[in-house]
Amino acid sequence: MATDARWIRWPAGQDHAQFGYGADYNPEQWPRETWAEDVRLMREAGVTIVTVGVFSWARLQLAPDTWDFAWLDEVMDLLHANGIAVDLATATASPPPWLTTLHPEILPVTADGVTLSPGSRQHWRPASPVFRRYALALVEAMAARYGEHPALAAWHVSNELGCHNVHDYSDDAAHAFRDWLRERYGTVAELNRAWGTAFWSQAYSDFAEVLPPRRAATHPNPTQQLDFKRFSSWVLQDYLRAERDVLRRLTPDVPVTTNFMLIGHNGMDYAAWADDVDFVANDHYRLVVERPEDDLSLAANLTSNLAEGRPWFLMEHATSAVNWAEINPVKSPADLLHDALVHVGHGADAVCYFQWRQSRAGAEKYHSAMVPHAGADTDTYRAVVQLGGLLRDLRQVVGSRRAPARVAIVVDWESWWAVELDSHPSSHVDYRREVLEWYGALLDAGVRVDVVPVRAELSGYDVVVAPLLYLMPGALAERLRAFVARGGHLVTTYFSGIVDTHDHVHLGGYPGALRDLLGIRVAEFMPLLADQQVELDNGTRGTLWSEPVEITDPAAKAVVCYASGLLAGRPAVTRCQQGSGSATYVSTRLGIEGIAALLPEILGPAGVDAEPTSADGKVETMVRTDGTTEYVFLANRTADAVEVPVGEERVLLGEVSARGGLALAPHGVGVLVRPA
Ligand code: GLA
Repeated sequence: MATDARWIRWPAGQDHAQFGYGADYNPEQWPRETWAEDVRLMREAGVTIVTVGVFSWARLQLAPDTWDFAWLDEVMDLLHANGIAVDLATATASPPPWLTTLHPEILPVTADGVTLSPGSRQHWRPASPVFRRYALALVEAMAARYGEHPALAAWHVSNELGCHNVHDYSDDAAHAFRDWLRERYGTVAELNRAWGTAFWSQAYSDFAEVLPPRRAATHPNPTQQLDFKRFSSWVLQDYLRAERDVLRRLTPDVPVTTNFMLIGHNGMDYAAWADDVDFVANDHYRLVVERPEDDLSLAANLTSNLAEGRPWFLMEHATSAVNWAEINPVKSPADLLHDALVHVGHGADAVCYFQWRQSRAGAEKYHSAMVPHAGADTDTYRAVVQLGGLLRDLRQVVGSRRAPARVAIVVDWESWWAVELDSHPSSHVDYRREVLEWYGALLDAGVRVDVVPVRAELSGYDVVVAPLLYLMPGALAERLRAFVARGGHLVTTYFSGIVDTHDHVHLGGYPGALRDLLGIRVAEFMPLLADQQVELDNGTRGTLWSEPVEITDPAAKAVVCYASGLLAGRPAVTRCQQGSGSATYVSTRLGIEGIAALLPEILGPAGVDAEPTSADGKVETMVRTDGTTEYVFLANRTADAVEVPVGEERVLLGEVSARGGLALAPHGVGVLVRPA
């Protein structure tokens, strides 16, 4: 029986319309005396839910037939007695030493053939039948023990599936890869065709000869590499389903989720995974040095759209520093509030951290937490308590959905994988950076955007930006044509529309499958060297890539031309008018400044304006709606104070200035309420 639960199942006695607020809680790292203080501080901070058991396997199953649940029973009871719900992990994330000693064949193997040792975490092969047998037995034991526990509000499958082990090149992976290929291609002849094995004498005569793309003399077959990425995402997804199916069989009323890693980790095609969980959960850490707020906003935005606008769960972020970068700067208390509220503005109804109490020992002892080493008398903990209060004040927002924007940016994992494969015209093409630049420039322009997976329905948008949409099956090109034919405005960039689903080039000139729609033809790519740039005739410049764009359709015209180098005078950006729609092509990397200069040409014809609350792009506007009321989240993107004029709206969160506007402190977030 399938569950229809789509959100946290709040325990009886807890407010069912509250925000989830809390953290990973790892009480097994602490003596019992600390537990009492933990729950006291959790109550003080307004914590409503914690994730327990993520790395507890070794403490729960001491040997194949020896279990110890007593401590976890006590923790579950203690949390329940204090009105704190539990997102209970299945505890399978990190196999204990006895298991890897008994079955070293579960350890993952790198492309170089190195078997990874235990002693860290997530040292298991996604395709290992032995690992799966032990892990599913643990899941059964957890479900049998805690399925009826009154604190249980959701199941948390494993943890960040694929964070360290997505690409495993072991013999187990080889077997499962062959099965997957047999299913995909049916015959070895079809596999040979798809992989283009006529090249370099690679023709297979049997599936048994096929291997994962292990370290080879030089570039491994690109379609083999692409298929291995597809397979690696799929095999973990299959594992997620296996755990989920056990949980659904034993506890059909308890929702099941797992934490994604958008957009820091691209190994998993989360657009394909999103339907396999009852609600979408994501982890986000500030990874990028430049414009970290844009990266956070983009991740939250995409997560919300993977959840199709429904509320989602921010499972982890950091109160302050992480510990895994080369240098780990702190976050100010203002940034702590900013980050959490931007996630909420993009639809999160639960805001959690890694982790509750900063560890004394282990590899993450210098990672921030809600309760730092220095204790509760700290700015971090005070900000944590403040955020708990703000979330209570915003309670009416819970359950509202993301309001769609008029502009979309399309993200496609298959293109992301394929465009960054080796042996290309430039190895400096960076999918995530290009997407972020378009997103950042649109935020700078004060425009609200939806970042959507490529499978999303595009017809409701006025403008669709599809950067580096390299992999273009015929059906996708057809959808884009239909979008433009209906009056939509499409923008795409260099190295888009180039190959089919097998990474075979669409012949006849670039950009292959999109040539007709764009009304152009390109005979060769002209990548730029790392320190090279080309001037453009609108005063901006291109880097990374350039192309001799030839206009082939009278409906197409040059919008911007190259002004220096070999291509001086030739089109750099073109637009092809198709009825009331248009298709714009950008043949170089414009960067944020160049995109900003181009945006009026794109947004103007589509009639898309800046949000009135955007203060010239200084403020990001996020809108949630429950059908009758709109909640307008306004995040100050700058380090200066900004004032936003307020009309008929009511201020739900934030300072009202003397002039009646909403006063936003540097990086401050306010919320307005208006009828929908
Ligand atoms: C990941 C993991 C956590 C922790 C954090 C630290 O998100 O899920 O267990 O390691 O990173 O940033």
